[in-house]
Amino acid sequence: MHSVLGIDVGGSSIKAALVDVWAGQTVSPLASLPTPQPSTPERLMEAFVELDASLGAQGPVGLALPSVVQHGVARTAANIDKGWIGFDCAGSLQSRLQRPVTVLNDADAAGLAEMRWGAGRGTLGVVIMLTFGTGIGTAVFNDGQLLPNTEFGHLEMDGREAEHQASARVRTVEKLDWPQWAERVNAYLSRMHGLFWPDVFILGGAVSENFDRFAPLLTSPAQIRAAQFRGQAGLIGAALAASRASEGG
Ligand code: BGC
Repeated sequence: MHSVLGIDVGGSSIKAALVDVWAGQTVSPLASLPTPQPSTPERLMEAFVELDASLGAQGPVGLALPSVVQHGVARTAANIDKGWIGFDCAGSLQSRLQRPVTVLNDADAAGLAEMRWGAGRGTLGVVIMLTFGTGIGTAVFNDGQLLPNTEFGHLEMDGREAEHQASARVRTVEKLDWPQWAERVNAYLSRMHGLFWPDVFILGGAVSENFDRFAPLLTSPAQIRAAQFRGQAGLIGAALAASRASEGG
């Protein structure tokens, strides 16, 4: 079984696809549903079951959530319903689908995909994956090893959370043009660089589609690379994590 269902929960949509976890590519059409509002565990569970059925998936399931996730349990909920905090997501979905479920943070999932097959492939040293969407997600790797559940989108900058200043959502809400937004991202990259001294930043998330418009405006002593899987990195990485868990590592 090397085709595994990957699901990625975003602020506006839930995306899912079957992923060939040997080749690192989707092997089904991309299925998606609007993220229900309010985004309670119960309503999202129904959406996951619907997406699973629509893709005719079998075997392990990987799910990327915009939360800190420990042992299948969501611990935070910055941009989804607060009912997620303390919710045993893996246990609940597993009992509905009767198949093994692996749940992890969305930026961690995106980072795993990029490190395995994408922009970070073969890169040693410190690599930080940043996803710009409804929030800012972070995944920190050293020599390819992930330190899970880092939450540096909530880093304080000038008295406010970084993701309230420089996420993709803020760019839309505040109607920032690319140079205005890039200035904020540069301030964030500079702060992150001063704290972690990464060799490489990989930038992904909802803004990925427009990488060419803002990348030339970004500056950092670290190398800046575009996420190769763009907005699909989360679901591909979730499938990879599920396949690794089913193999016992
Ligand atoms: C959440 C993170 C998540 C990021 C991107 C943040 O608000 O706290 O867990 O990775 O958004 O979705």
